[in-house]
Amino acid sequence: MRDAFRSKTLRQAGYSAGAVVTADTLLDLHGDAHRERRRVENRLFRREIFSYWEHQVLGGTIRATLGPFIDAGYGDLAQIGYRSALSLTATIAGIDHDPTDAPATERLYAIVKVFSEGATIMHSTRDKDVVRSEVREAMATFEADTFQPSLDRRRALVEQVEAGYLDADALPKDVLTTLLSHQERLNLAPDVVLREMCLYLQAGAHSTANAFTHTVDDLLAWGVEHPDDLALARADIGFVQRCMHESLRLNPASPMAYRTPLTDTELGDGTVLPEGSLVVLDLTAANRDVAIFGASGAAFDPHREVPDDIARWGMSFGAGAHACVGAELDGGLEIDPNRPSDEQLFGTDAVMAHAFLEAGGRQDPSNPPKLDPNSTRTHYSSYPVVFG
Ligand code: HEM
Repeated sequence: MRDAFRSKTLRQAGYSAGAVVTADTLLDLHGDAHRERRRVENRLFRREIFSYWEHQVLGGTIRATLGPFIDAGYGDLAQIGYRSALSLTATIAGIDHDPTDAPATERLYAIVKVFSEGATIMHSTRDKDVVRSEVREAMATFEADTFQPSLDRRRALVEQVEAGYLDADALPKDVLTTLLSHQERLNLAPDVVLREMCLYLQAGAHSTANAFTHTVDDLLAWGVEHPDDLALARADIGFVQRCMHESLRLNPASPMAYRTPLTDTELGDGTVLPEGSLVVLDLTAANRDVAIFGASGAAFDPHREVPDDIARWGMSFGAGAHACVGAELDGGLEIDPNRPSDEQLFGTDAVMAHAFLEAGGRQDPSNPPKLDPNSTRTHYSSYPVVFG
């Protein structure tokens, strides 16, 4: 599978049907155009900036989004997850947003859900033209209410830097500012910049929120048989990170990736993929491969040992040219006792899950979680929790 992800002749094919929101975005570009955009955006997705987001931004976001639920003594894990994940992702994308403003977060979330449905339209069972027109409407609302003011503010700041009135270090550390600062090189049309923001919001928020819910759910279920491990998780974020990696492996946010060969393509093992075919990369199956993860590969076990050249999260962040830009942000760095603590990165999902567990979060015994009836994936529509 890694071979297929890394092949230069396999083109991204999962998002063309959702062109209304994905056309010319990083996710859907190929070859030189992809490389050029990615090179610019990668300036932002660097370790120092991951560290800035995790150490300086995430704590405040979690306090603002989780705090009110802890004070109330109860909440819903799904709601806690997407409020925190969306607020953080908006900061990273460059969309101004106040994490303490819960109604504004809910409104933005409703819009981002429509973007997601548009991006993954190839799987939609609804009338695709109806979905597309809902996406256009959501994009228009987003553009007028949220995107344009964020763009104007950043454009003014970039102009001040260019005129020498402001130091470049004072610019916001986000994708939109990065694109504006390199506009001469990229020459992006305004509608492409808008869709790039829609991509970041939906790619970042949903995967992060789902990974958070699954991590907590897997950990609480494991804790029933292994209470010492649950107690450890409440105290030790390093252990939560290990659980999060295991949970990511079992619940990849995008269970399948799709590619189409631009020419007949032979993989390392001799498999020939014919030009124009649809190649389905099954991340869920790869992540449970017994040859790599052992006979218990389909089960959650945070103490699992994996071979040295295999990531604990399996293929969940993809690989090759389109590998997730947010992998280290969400997954953190493997724990290294020699790394100074201020350089340690546990990953957004571990920090969120640990904050929840540290506050005594647990399932509401009188109100069991409910799976989303409209999804074939394991998505919780509600997951009631209590604190203390
Ligand atoms: C647990 C969290 C996440 C998971 C499991 C995940 C998974 C993935 C996967 C599998 C891909 C590759 C898709 C393909 O090759 O077809 C991808 C790409 C991408 N992800 Fe993530 N992602 C996560 C979080 C994030 C976050 C937090 C952000 C942004 C802040 C983000 C932004 C992106 C972008 C922009 C791409 C496209 C990269 C490219 O095409 O060059 N992701 N992600």
